[in-house]
Amino acid sequence: MKSSNFILCISLIWLNLTDAKIGYFWHITDLHYDPFHNSPEFHRGCRHNRGNSEHSHRNGRHRDHTCDSSYSLIQSAAAFMAERHPDTLEFVLWTGDILSSTMEHTSEEFQLEAVRNVTDVLSRTFSSQFVFPALGHNDPSPSRRLMDMWMQWLPSDALQTFEESGFYTIEQSHSKLRIVVLNSVLWSGGGFRSEKSTHKAKAQWEWLEQVLSKARRKNEMVYLVAHAGPGVEERTTATTAAAVGGGELTPTANSRLLHVIRAFSDVIAGQFYGHRHADTFRLIYNEGRPVSWALLAPSVTPRGAGSISNPGLRLYKFESITGKVLDYTQYYLDVTNSRGEFHWTVEYNLTQYYGLRDVSAVSLDALAEKIRNHQDRGIFAKYLSSLRVRMTSDISDCDAACAHVHFCAITRADYHEFRSCVRNPASALASRAPHNSAAILLYAILILISS
Ligand SMILES: *[C@@H]1O[C@H](CO)[C@@H](O)[C@H](O)[C@H]1NC(C)=O
Ligand SMILES: *[C@@H]1O[C@H](CO)[C@@H](O)[C@H](O)[C@H]1NC(C)=O
Ligand SMILES: [Zn+2]
Repeated sequence: MKSSNFILCISLIWLNLTDAKIGYFWHITDLHYDPFHNSPEFHRGCRHNRGNSEHSHRNGRHRDHTCDSSYSLIQSAAAFMAERHPDTLEFVLWTGDILSSTMEHTSEEFQLEAVRNVTDVLSRTFSSQFVFPALGHNDPSPSRRLMDMWMQWLPSDALQTFEESGFYTIEQSHSKLRIVVLNSVLWSGGGFRSEKSTHKAKAQWEWLEQVLSKARRKNEMVYLVAHAGPGVEERTTATTAAAVGGGELTPTANSRLLHVIRAFSDVIAGQFYGHRHADTFRLIYNEGRPVSWALLAPSVTPRGAGSISNPGLRLYKFESITGKVLDYTQYYLDVTNSRGEFHWTVEYNLTQYYGLRDVSAVSLDALAEKIRNHQDRGIFAKYLSSLRVRMTSDISDCDAACAHVHFCAITRADYHEFRSCVRNPASALASRAPHNSAAILLYAILILISS
């Protein structure tokens, strides 16, 4: 009797100590707001389909996937998030590309007005939470005016680095979780490189390593958040994949970031990126062991980067003290199948959808194996269906070679490694030789026993 009371008492204390306080946060990305949408000038925000412009005019109202987001699409996403508000919603990650790329040539004044309008929607929606914005390549550069808009969400020390270079860190008083928001534009290849931006890019490296070292000393866990993360863009055919085989970051920045992630994988509880307009993930390995994961959220805009997708919103469930990610629910809007009104709905829950035991680099590595092993058509079909948020789900379009490219994109964040993985499916297999030959041996034994 006594001892069972004792055990009960101990387990209650243990429960309290590890008090898995459950919290939630939204990750929204790539809104690509287009103020010209649905106006006489709306075609500026829509992709021109040659000879097909009548078609895009007819459907180019709110939900055409050749157009970026209308204001009403953004409002509907906000209304849906407000309705789904869990009481324990802690914050919102907002990873950039706020504006449609068709606005690139409009005045800075006009761009800031558009950013202001989207900011207002979010601040009305999340009146008692903080929104942590990261800058994308279609966003205005950090400035005093951008800072004024976002100072409602960012503490003063974060505002200081933000105004200077667009990166910052958030320390949470009630938890061991630190959020590190990077300005990936500083490390990306495109555009004009001035001496000043080279200096800022360098400063961001030094700052990141300092923040991570300090977090380690203070036993904090870190979320890395940015518009674009390490790794390649997926291409559907092996030939284009091997030929292109790069990503948003410059090759140097990409390898350096991978190096930092490996060195601090014990501190990094997760990486959250947007940019690809795709629902996918990346794994980082150290000496063959999966040590860190990055989850990429699909865009709010239905207009794809290279291909089309449905708009998506992602709600994470996590242990708010430690930052340990437990799951997410992916919501989406079917743009092809709705009449008149916006109907956002659940697409899937991560752990249940793929049958994952937990959200960890090891579990996601096992999932990547199943994706490569296209014999498991069930899992592979699920991956392809969610990749473009249920826009394309026909796996007959993706043969073994195509499945292999997807596997390489997920597991080879290094550009060189990705290209050789794509060129040489056999070597990708060979790198897992011990595991495979053990499986073959086991199989042989089983055949011997059963015969
Ligand atoms: C911003 O919102 C105001 C007020 O609703 C509107 O008049 C203006 O046209 C909007 N501008 C942009 C660029 O969205
Ligand atoms: C997914 O998770 C959400 C939030 O935990 C839950 O409300 C919902 O029922 C789940 N959906 C499915 C299909 O399991
Ligand atoms: Zn984008």
